[in-house]
Amino acid sequence: MISVSNVSMRYGAKILFDDVTITFTPGRRYGLTGPNGAGKSTFMKILSGELDAQKGTVVRPKKVGILRQDQFAFDAYRVIDTVIMGNKGLWAALEERDAIYSKAELTDEDGMRLGELEGIVGEEDGYTAESDAAVLLQGLDIPDELHERRMGELQGGQKVRVLLAQALFGNPQALLLDEPTNYLDLDSIHWLQDFLSRFEGTLITISHDRHFLNSVTTHTADIDYETIITYTGGYDDMVLAKTQIRSRLEAENAQREKKIAQLNEFIARFAAGTRSSQVTSRKKEVERLQTTELARSNIQRPYIRFEMIRPSGKTALEFEGVRKSYGELTVIDGFSANVMRGEKVALMGRNAQGKTTLVKSLLSGIPDLAEQGFTLDAGTIKWGHEAQIGYFPQDHTGVIEPGLTVADWLHQWDPKATKEDIRGILGQMLFRGEEGLKPTAALSGGEAARLLFCKLMLQKPNVLIFDEPTNHLDLESINALNISLQRYEGTVLLVSHDHDLIDEVATRIWHFENGAIDDFKGPYEEYIAATSAAR
Ligand SMILES: Nc1ncnc2c1ncn2[C@@H]1O[C@H](COP(=O)(O)OP(=O)(O)OP(=O)(O)O)[C@@H](O)[C@H]1O
Ligand SMILES: [Mg+2]
Repeated sequence: MISVSNVSMRYGAKILFDDVTITFTPGRRYGLTGPNGAGKSTFMKILSGELDAQKGTVVRPKKVGILRQDQFAFDAYRVIDTVIMGNKGLWAALEERDAIYSKAELTDEDGMRLGELEGIVGEEDGYTAESDAAVLLQGLDIPDELHERRMGELQGGQKVRVLLAQALFGNPQALLLDEPTNYLDLDSIHWLQDFLSRFEGTLITISHDRHFLNSVTTHTADIDYETIITYTGGYDDMVLAKTQIRSRLEAENAQREKKIAQLNEFIARFAAGTRSSQVTSRKKEVERLQTTELARSNIQRPYIRFEMIRPSGKTALEFEGVRKSYGELTVIDGFSANVMRGEKVALMGRNAQGKTTLVKSLLSGIPDLAEQGFTLDAGTIKWGHEAQIGYFPQDHTGVIEPGLTVADWLHQWDPKATKEDIRGILGQMLFRGEEGLKPTAALSGGEAARLLFCKLMLQKPNVLIFDEPTNHLDLESINALNISLQRYEGTVLLVSHDHDLIDEVATRIWHFENGAIDDFKGPYEEYIAATSAAR
C-alpha cells in the first residue's frame, strides 16, 4: 500500500497538484493519467521517494520497483548489472567493494570497510544477485548471450524487458512504471499487458496509450484541475466519469449564476427603497451562493505546422546497396530506393528489425546529424539538390542540453529570428509566458518532444525524418502532429508503431520483416490489402 497525505507541488505560478490525499491499494492496478507536463513523472518521483513534495507526506512499502521514463539512462552498463542496480543499496556496496579490492595495497581502514560491505552484501542477498538477476531475465525472454552485453546495444523492446527486470529485482511490493510502452511494438505491448495483469502488489503505471491502460488498469488516478482524482476503471471509464462530473459542476454553477443575477437585480432596484430587510437577506443569499470558480482543465492542443523555406530537387534521396551490420549481426542487407520530393514513407515493423539503423545509415554522411562512430558497411547515398534535413531522433537525451532556458535553446538554431518569432512558435507549442523561461533540464518527456518540433518549425527544412515521434506525446499532440504531417509539402521519412499515424500520413511503406525490407508504393490500407491477398 502507498498512502499519500496532503501532498502539494508547484513550479513558479504553475500548480501541478494541491493538497492531494490518496491511498493506492495492493491488488489494484492504477493508471496515472494527464497531458504532457501535468506532473505525472513528478508525482511518481514523489511516490518513490526520489523527490520530496513541497508539502505533505508519503508512506510507502520497503521495496518499491521503479521503471523511469528515460529508457536510455543505462546504456553504458551491462545488462546483468542494470538488473542488479534495482537494489540500490546492494549495488553501491558491490561497487565500493570492487573498488577497494582493486587497490594495490589495502590499509587497515580498507579491511574494516570491507567487513562492513560484506555484511551489507550478505544481508541484501548479494551472493546470489547474479543468478537471481539471470533467472528474472530468462523469465522476461532475454537470452543468456545478451546478459553480458551493454544496454546500449539492445533494441528498444529488449531494453524495456531488462528495465522491468530491474524494477522487479528483489520482489518489490509496489511497482511504479513511467511510460513502459514507449519504443515497444504491438506484440511486445501485448506481452507486457499480460505480464502486468498478473502482478499481485500495488501497480501504478503512467501511459498515454489508451488501449494499454484500458487493458491493464483497474483504477485511474487523473491529474487535472490542480488535483488528482481517482476513478474506478480504465482510461475510457475515467474520461466518461470525468466529463459527467464536470458537466454537472458546470450546470450547477450556471444555475447559481442565474440565481445570483436575479438577486442582484432585485438588490439594485430596491437598494434605496423601503424594502431594506428584503434587500439585506438577498445580499446574504448572494454571498452564500457565490460560485466556486472551476479550475481550468490542463488539457490543451498545440498547433504544429511544418513549412519549408524552399523545396528540394525532384528526387529527394537516392541510395543503393546500403549494408550495415553490428558484429556478426547483419541488420540492413543491401537496400536500394529512390524517394521523390513530397513522398511520405513510413518505416514500420517489429522491434529490432533495423528501422533506426536504416535512418542512421542514411544520415551517416550528413554533418551535424550523423551519429558519431557510426560507419556504413557498404552502399552509396545521394541526397537531392538543396535537400535540407530536419531530424527528430529516437533518443532525446543529450539533444537538448541542460543549462539553458527553453527560449534560448530554441533561438540558437536561428539567431536571425526575432524574439517575437521565438515567442510565437513557443506559444503555439504551449510554452506560454513564463513557460518559455524554464530550464531545459526541467522539461517533461512530452515537453522535450514539443521543443524539438519547435526547432523543426523554426528551421523549415524540406525533408523531415522522425524516429518514433509519438513516444511521450499525449493524445492532443499526437493528433496535431498527424495533421501537420498530412499538410506538410516536403518529403517525410517516419518510423512509427502508431497505426493511425501511418494510415493517415504515409504514401509509401517500407516494411521491415525477417531481415528484409518490403518497399510498397502506396498507402498502408492498400499495402494491407495487397499483402493479405498474396497470402
Ligand atoms: N525544476 C523545475 N522548474 C520548473 N518547472 C519544472 C521543474 N521541474 C519540472 N517542472 C515542470 O513541471 C511539469 C511537470 O513535469 P513532469 O515531468 O512531471 O510531467 P509529466 O506529466 O510526466 O509529462 P510527460 O507526459 O510529458 O512525461 C512540467 O511542465 C515541467 O516542465
Ligand atoms: Mg513524464
